[in-house]
Order: sequence, then structure tokens, then C-alpha cells
Amino acid sequence: MATQLKPKSTGQNSFWKVIDERLGLEGISYPVPEHANTLPYVLGGITLFGFIILAVTGVLMAQFYNPDPANAHNSVIYIITQAPFGDFIRSVHFWTANLVFITILLHLIRVFVTGSYKRPREANWLVGLGLLGVTMGFVFTGTVLKWDQEAVEALAHNQEIGELLGLWGVWFTQQFTLSVPILTRLYIGHLTLLPAAFVLLIITHIYLIKQLGISPKATPEATSGPPTKNQGSARFSEHIQRMIGYGLLLFAVAGGLALLFPAVLGQAGVPGEEVTKPLWMFLPFYPMEDLFGIQGLLGGSALVFILLALVPFVDRSEWLSPRKRKWIIIVGGIILLALIVLGIVAGVSQPAPHLME
Ligand code: HEM
Repeated sequence: MATQLKPKSTGQNSFWKVIDERLGLEGISYPVPEHANTLPYVLGGITLFGFIILAVTGVLMAQFYNPDPANAHNSVIYIITQAPFGDFIRSVHFWTANLVFITILLHLIRVFVTGSYKRPREANWLVGLGLLGVTMGFVFTGTVLKWDQEAVEALAHNQEIGELLGLWGVWFTQQFTLSVPILTRLYIGHLTLLPAAFVLLIITHIYLIKQLGISPKATPEATSGPPTKNQGSARFSEHIQRMIGYGLLLFAVAGGLALLFPAVLGQAGVPGEEVTKPLWMFLPFYPMEDLFGIQGLLGGSALVFILLALVPFVDRSEWLSPRKRKWIIIVGGIILLALIVLGIVAGVSQPAPHLME
């Protein structure tokens, strides 16, 4: 028997119905409780939108960037001075990277405070940590690509950490191969390896959100598990519209900052000197390097990741409300405060110019 086609849809959403009927978009949607349409619950979506801005501006810059160490710095000058809208595009890329890092941290803090990492979402918390690591990788490799003084110093740290890790870190050192300069390999990492890892992780992250649903609102009685029916339900399309709306706001802020404060490029780098500071997200680990050397830098950042990874396995109660999870909120708050203080101390201290080993 021939399949009966449904009558033509009418009404204000008919356009979406027509598209949905052909592309099966409904399959992507998941139940959205009312509270998931508030800003704290849209931070992950804003971050995702930021990554789209980064991909587009990155691809545009890649048309003019030369990853050969002899030409890299000059090609960035070319992007700033000659490429159409090059200075603006580069600055939007720079500011979006900074803003996206802020939205990831706020997203992490929201998930932490509302206990959304609890059963059955432990795995998605770990996938999120993977996304944080990949994002740090993007920021780090992106800094090196400028090939100015800050870049050369960041690369020297990369080399030292690679050597410290022995066989595990050899990819990060110049010794891995003499046939391709390390700058070129980090460029390939920035353009292929990290985006591939990001896509894999974000597909898993969103798949798990779809399968497990958004966590219930962290009311005093709420327990971990699937979202409860009595917390209202919003339309999925409205959820997406919010993400896009806030995402466009992020784009506007990045555009405004790009016009007011274009991204800086330092002098071509001189290897062996240490006179600059890293970007703000790496600053909390900078004093640890001063105290304990490169081991402090590696150990300090590894410790933060390990502590974060342990969170769902040490906070085993079923309660979501922060009031019923006081001890972990206090410990988390103290660690966050310590990182902020370390970052501020590093930010205001004068870099003591010295030669690196
Ligand atoms: C590139 C970075 C990331 C992106 C694009 C992203 C994206 C998202 C999106 C779109 C959601 C749906 C709800 C929302 O928007 O808040 C979400 C939820 C979630 N994310 Fe992320 N995320 C990222 C990083 C992280 C990090 C660093 C963590 C924690 C370590 C994390 C853990 C979670 C968890 C556990 C949920 C489920 C929350 C719930 O059910 O209430 N994510 N993420």
C-alpha cells in the first residue's frame, strides 16, 4: 500500500516543518525544562557558537598565514596590514578566544554549583574536561603561531615540558623530526588535530546531553537523575534561538573589542630570553614555575585537572542543591580563589628578565 503523505502544513512554523520533514531535524532535539532557557544553562551553547566564530575567522586567516619559521611573523604583519579586513578578523579571533574561555569556565562553574556532574552525567563531566584541555591546546598553539617574543617563549616552555615527559612528550619537542619545523607541526595541530579532537568530543558531549537530558533544577529537594516533568517544558527551537541570540551578542562584544583594542603583535621573537607573560588563563600556573621550575608548571596544571576529574567520584550524594553539598562547594570555592589570587599575583608582578636554560 502506498504511503500517505501528510497534508501540507500551514501556520507560522510551517517553514521549519517543511525543513524538518526532509532533514529529520526533530531527531536532534531533546526535552528542555523551563530552567534550561536561563543564561546559566545556555553558557555551553554560547561557547559552541563562539567556536563557530573561531573556525570561520581562523579559516580566513589561514589563507594568508605562512607556517614557515622564516616567514611566519612577516605573514602575520601581512594579515594586519594588507589582507582585506585582516586586522579586524585577527582581532575578532583573538577576542572570541578570550571570551570563549570565560564562557567555558562559567559553564563549568554552573555545572559544578548545580551538581549536574552527578549520576548519570559523570562521563559527560569528563568529556567536558577533555573539551577544556583541547581549548587550552588551541590557545597555546595559537599563541605560538604569532611567532613574536611571547610565542617563542611559549614554545620554549613547550619544548621543556616535552623533554620532561620523555617519550610521552617527544611529539612536543623539535627532536621529534628534523624534516618539519616545530612551528609548522604546531600549526598543523591547531588546524587539524585539535579541531578533530574537538569535533569528536563535542559530538559525544551533545549526544550525552540528548540521551540523559538536562539535569533537574537544583532546588532543595532535587536529586540527580533525568529531568523531572514538573519543572515545565520549553520548546527545543526556543532553546536553540536563545543560544544563537546570546552567541550573536558574544560576536558583537568580540567585534566591539576588536575595533577598540586590536590584537597586539610583538617584535619577532628572540630565542633564549624570557621577558613576557603568558595569556591570563595560564597566569595562575606562572608563580608555580617561579617556585618549582617547569615541574611546577606541569604539576600544578595536572593537579587542577586531576582534582576536577575526581569531583563526580568524591561527591556521591544524590542532592543537587549547593546548600546540601556545602563541603564540596567550599573546597571548590577555595581552590578557585587560590587560582584567582595566583593569577593576580602573576599579573601584577614584573617579569624578571632572565635567560632561559
Ligand atoms: C568547548 C567547551 C564546551 C562546550 C561547547 C559545551 C557545551 C555544552 C552544552 C551546549 C550543554 C547543554 C547545556 C548548557 O548549555 O549549559 C552542556 C552541558 C553540560 N556540560 Fe558542557 N560544554 C563545554 C565544556 C564543558 C566542561 C569544561 C564541563 C565540565 C568539566 C562540561 C560539562 C557539562 C555537563 C556535565 C553538562 C550537562 C549539564 C546538565 O545536564 O545540566 N562542559 N555543555
